[in-house]
Formats: sequence, C-alpha cells, structure tokens
Amino acid sequence: MMQQSASARKPKPPEMSSTDSLAVALADLDVLLAAGLNAFKSAATSEAVEASRIDYLGQKQGRLRAAQDRLKSLEPASRRAYGQQFNAAKAALEAALDAARVRVERRATTPIGLDVTLPGIRPRLGHRHPLTQTADELIDLFGRFGFAVARGPEVEDVHHNFDALNIPPNHFARDPLDNFYLAADGEPSQPEAPATSRSESALSRSGPPTAMLRSQTSTVQIRVMESQPPPVRVIAIGRVYRPDTVDATHSFMFHQIEGLMVDRGVTMAHLKSVLRLFAESYLGREVKIRFRPSFFPFTEPSVEVDMLWHGGERWVEMGGAGMVDPNVLRSVGYDPEDVTGFAFGLGIERLCMRRHGIDDIRLLYQNDVRFLRQF
Ligand code: DAH
Repeated sequence: MMQQSASARKPKPPEMSSTDSLAVALADLDVLLAAGLNAFKSAATSEAVEASRIDYLGQKQGRLRAAQDRLKSLEPASRRAYGQQFNAAKAALEAALDAARVRVERRATTPIGLDVTLPGIRPRLGHRHPLTQTADELIDLFGRFGFAVARGPEVEDVHHNFDALNIPPNHFARDPLDNFYLAADGEPSQPEAPATSRSESALSRSGPPTAMLRSQTSTVQIRVMESQPPPVRVIAIGRVYRPDTVDATHSFMFHQIEGLMVDRGVTMAHLKSVLRLFAESYLGREVKIRFRPSFFPFTEPSVEVDMLWHGGERWVEMGGAGMVDPNVLRSVGYDPEDVTGFAFGLGIERLCMRRHGIDDIRLLYQNDVRFLRQF
C-alpha cells in the first residue's frame, strides 16, 4: 500500500536514468490518482470519505504528500513536468473529495432516515461570470450617458466586417490567416495559403469568401446606421473572433464593446470626455488613460486608447477610437457635411482584468469555480 512513500523508495537504484525515473514517477502518479478517485467514488459514508481523505490527501502521511516528496528525487529538468501532473492530480482528488462529501451528505439526509428537524442543506448559489458582470456594468454605465444597446450577428458578411468600414480589398486585416472565414456552399472556408504569399492566393482561389466570424464589433456601427437616420448613440457588446494563439493576453475569441455617436457637431472632445468619464467610472477615479495617434480605415483622425496597468509599470491598450470617416457615413447614406460622429471599440476582457487585478486571460474561460467564486 505505502510503496509510494518517500522512505520506502529511499535506496534509489543508481543506474536509473533521469528520464526513466520521470516516466516511472508519472506512471505511479497515474496509479495513485486512479486509486484515489476510486476510493472517493466508492466511499459510502462520511466516515469512509474521511478515511480516504486522510489516506490520500492527509497532510502528514497522505499518499499525495509522499508523491510530492518524490519531486526532490527527480532530476531538476524533470521536475516541471512532474509538478504539473502532480498539481492536476491533486486538484482532481480534491474535487473528488468534494463530490464524495456532497454525495454522502445527501444520502444521509434522504431516503429512509429522513430527519425533517435537521437544518436543510443550503444550495450553493451561483452568480454571473465576471465577464458578464463587466458587460452588464458597461451597459449600465453607458446607459447613464444616454447610449442604447445595439446587437449584431457573430456570423457576419464580409461587407459589414470590412467593405462598409472603408477597409480596402487588399488590406492586411482581411488576411485569411487572421480571420475565420466560413465556407460558401461546396467551397473550403480557409483555402490553404502557400507559406510565401499569404493573402493573395488564399483569397483568389475560389473567389473571395463572403461570410466569416466577425473580427470586430465595428460591424454593428454599420448595421445600426443602415437601419436608422441620425442621431445615433449606441453601444454594442459581444464576441469577436481572430485566430490568435492562446496565451496570457490573447485568445481566439474575446469580447468587445463598441460605441458610436453620430449627430450634428460631434467632435473629438466629446469622444475624449466620454472615454475618460467611462474609464474613471469603471476603473476608479485614479485610473490613468492616454490617447495615442493611430490609424483605422473607418476613422479619421484615429487614436489608440491605453490605460496604465495595475501596478502602474506599463501602459496596456484598451482599444481604438476616432472620428467616423466620411466614407463610412456616406456608405450608409448619411451626409458627412451634415453630421459627424465618434466611434470606439474596447476589449472587455482587459477592462475586467484591470478592474479585478487578473493577470491571465485564460482564467476567464476555464470555468474553474475556485476562480469564479471570487468575483
Ligand atoms: N475595431 C477595432 C479593432 O477591433 C477597434 C476600433 C478602432 C473600433 C477604432 C472603433 C474605432 O470603433 O473607431 O481593432
């Protein structure tokens, strides 16, 4: 039973190579995990659950403890791999313990021996995901600034995602490697581009694709203006998709909030005031934001908006903004001589992370209740 313990393994076979011992250690960990999961699963009483807890998760003599000590006996190069698997096994066993506790508690209080005088088991109430909380709060905030909520589809046509936004046909933002294009009937959605010429060949082979997962919520600007005359004051919140490699700050799907205000006499001063007021309201009075000159095909002039990240050691981009380009106004039938407008698009994940001090975007998508419970 205890052959896993550190003491039992002390005389380490000297001929064992480091990779061998890692493989063996990982295999032992697998065995331990399977046995532990089984023990928790088959424990029928709270005493049995507790015995299994001590056996596997006990601080002093638990098997997992022994497995942890084993880390020291591995080559330094192997420790990371072992550590990761150890952490996963530990999390799985803890989850199994939780599940077993809930199960036996329920069993103890239900069928035959029902004791109606016992206090009830309080169901654990869930709550909205931090991203949903952020989105709701933004809707609320901009609502107070007079912005209504608009919606648009996530499966978009190329016209709304690019053409109507004054993004020319050869613009790099249309590159198949940077977008999720969707297949038209009988056609491959993402033609394989030879590594040499990324955009051209891929776009031309079977005619340009017409549908895609939207890469920006700016699409909704167009949809709103197409459907109503000015004045306009809306925000749109939703998912956008780009084939980015996932890391601490990138995801292939994230959320944006888009804002659009069109009326007579709207200026850059309005844009800056609204964004500054918004940042102070959502992130706190002491937040620092800055505007940097930039370029977007659908705004002129354009800016990028940065916020000082928690700790204040670096600036992080919140999004883009600018005065709506006259070409965009014209494409939806507005008269740029009569009305002007500002627009902005901000990343919701970043706002949420800055607000709560979260440093890895992936935490927002893993649905780990131990993380989510904190918000
Ligand atoms: N759509 C841009 C992006 O996703 C952000 C953006 C820039 C939105 C400028 C705007 C804007 O409304 O005016 O990168």
